[in-house]
Amino acid sequence: MNAAHAPVLCPEAVSSIALVGAGGNFVDATFGQGGHSRQLLQRIGPQARLLALDRDADSFQCAQALAERESRVIPRRGWFGDIAETLADTGMNAVQGALMDLGLSSAQLDDPERGFSFRADGPLDMRMDQDRGLPAAVWLNKAPAAEIAKVIRRYGEERYAGRISRAICAARPLATTGQLARLVTASQPRPTRGKHGATRVFQAVRIFINEELTQLQAGLEGLFNALAIGGRLAVIAFHSLEDRIVKRFFRERSSPPSVPKEVPLRSAELKAVARIAAGPLRPSEAEVQRNPRARSAVLRVLERTA
Ligand SMILES: C[S@@+](CC[C@H](N)C(=O)[O-])C[C@H]1O[C@@H](n2cnc3c(N)ncnc32)[C@H](O)[C@@H]1O
Repeated sequence: MNAAHAPVLCPEAVSSIALVGAGGNFVDATFGQGGHSRQLLQRIGPQARLLALDRDADSFQCAQALAERESRVIPRRGWFGDIAETLADTGMNAVQGALMDLGLSSAQLDDPERGFSFRADGPLDMRMDQDRGLPAAVWLNKAPAAEIAKVIRRYGEERYAGRISRAICAARPLATTGQLARLVTASQPRPTRGKHGATRVFQAVRIFINEELTQLQAGLEGLFNALAIGGRLAVIAFHSLEDRIVKRFFRERSSPPSVPKEVPLRSAELKAVARIAAGPLRPSEAEVQRNPRARSAVLRVLERTA
């Protein structure tokens, strides 16, 4: 495994979901290398339990290693979309605190063999769970240009999606991250300011390959449904597509249901089921200096009230 992942907004996220010495059930739905989980374990009480979930095989191994030393940890390999089954399987309900720290871990991003980075050449894979779904190269080598352009436009908000997708189709078969990165920058008429030209395209393909946005929606629903009254869900998003989904979900749950006036309902039935407990919270300048990957992070916290 590569360099340790520096957990983003760690004290803020951990203290937003757990009181010191708290008992009950906790979920770290994005265990990664366990940065947030380790802090959470220092805060919660001896009777508490922590489900350490990740779909990545290396992260799961890391969670298993932690569980050998720490009996409160229950390691599981799984996807957000299956969280209800995972919780049922572990006998955990009435969750007091849950955390989703979205995106990639440094271990995933920095390992050229995983194919997430345009900075180092490696196989064009990009799957967080390498035992499920298609590697990016397989999809890019067979998808029609229009489908590739749609993905790059929708998930990368890339202006030159059409040109880039046509260049990809003309150059097939692609095998490496280096090939894709060079193709993208060669298709852009002007260099991108600030970021590497391939940033948006890599983000888009990764979101598509890992079904990140549908998984996020399913994870929010599954975790919220599992919360006890007073339980909290903290989410750290890293780009506007993710944050938009989190914001909308939090707004819907913290607003009274809208029903036509003529529907006879008691006021208790018209109450919101949650309240916004914190956020949007961004990292301090000092944190961004220490860890530039934190710069786009936004933390939001929802508390279940009914
Ligand atoms: C930013 S990292 C988490 C880092 C972690 N908080 C730490 O401090 O080490 C996000 C993790 O979430 C996992 N992940 C992302 N989407 C997932 C999903 N739909 N289901 C399960 N795990 C997911 C990734 O595999 C990755 O390990």
